[in-house]
Amino acid sequence: MGFSSGLDAILSEAEPLARHTWFKVGGPARWFARPRTPADVSELVRRCRDHRLDHLVLGLGANLLVDDEGVDAVVTRLDAPHFTTVMFGDERSGDEVLVSAGAGADMAKFAWSTVKRGLRGLEVLAGIPGTVGGIIRMNAGGRFGCVADTVRDVSVIMPDGRLHTLTPAQVGFAYRHTGLTGAVVCGATFRLRRDDPARVQADYREIWSYKTQSQPLKYHSAGCVFKNPAGDSAGRLIDRAGLKGARQGGAYVSDHHANFIIADDGASAADVMALIGRIRREVHERFGTLLEMEVQVWGRCRPPEAEQAA
Ligand code: EPU
Repeated sequence: MGFSSGLDAILSEAEPLARHTWFKVGGPARWFARPRTPADVSELVRRCRDHRLDHLVLGLGANLLVDDEGVDAVVTRLDAPHFTTVMFGDERSGDEVLVSAGAGADMAKFAWSTVKRGLRGLEVLAGIPGTVGGIIRMNAGGRFGCVADTVRDVSVIMPDGRLHTLTPAQVGFAYRHTGLTGAVVCGATFRLRRDDPARVQADYREIWSYKTQSQPLKYHSAGCVFKNPAGDSAGRLIDRAGLKGARQGGAYVSDHHANFIIADDGASAADVMALIGRIRREVHERFGTLLEMEVQVWGRCRPPEAEQAA
């Protein structure tokens, strides 16, 4: 059986990915899938395994750089209703409330819907863009906390097509990292605490305002490019290396926050990658720190230093 046989309802070819990413650069996906149910996802991952095709899941594209040549892979987007539904548990009893969300749900909207109800936990994610699945996969967060702090369990489909529910320990949460390589996140349950709605909303607004003041949110970027090295800030090191405003083609280091790269209209993934390579080299020369990438890279482009360090 061919890879796509019988999957016409959920598969298309050569989908341009630039329109799906915040950088707005990059080429097409060989296959683009929009499964309707977990059974569709199981079928897809089994076929990818049988046909030796890479399988990648696209969230909101907020933390993603796609090669100009595109990706020779199956790219899945979980935007069907099954994957975007949010369910609130019983809010009348006890202080703790369980809330579940599909992996394709927009985390920013979901987090705000919990904050509005006076549920504490996800307000720390204010201003962090992504789907629930994407946020979990990389354990997104900021100086106020990360998503792992509230996760109760995560449902995933493994490369053999089977659905599992994982505890946080099984997910392997670490700083901007999980052990979920190869697994497709389908949804998660969060353990939130009931609090005074006005207080939770005020905290959310304060975190949101810190982010808008310190980061260039209105430009085409993918958030922080590098992870923070232990005990330091990548943005501070890049800034101290004098790289704010450094430019490569249509890509430049933000003057507002140095861990952000902005892509102008007409910029390419190669421009962004070349700038990433330069930042890593200069920060390493100056401070002896080899910055590790936070942004996910799809396709063949890699900064040369990243290959050496891998
Ligand atoms: N700093 C500079 N120059 C800069 C940027 C920062 O000197 O250009 C200094 C700041 O003055 C501050 C320190 O570096 O003293 C830390 O900066 P900031 O508070 O902005 O936090 P960060 O460590 O750079 C982290 C997350 C962000 C998150 C913020 C706020 C990482 C890699 N970054 O940034 O997450 O929004 O805290 O919670 O963990 C992201 O992951 O995409 C992201 C943007």
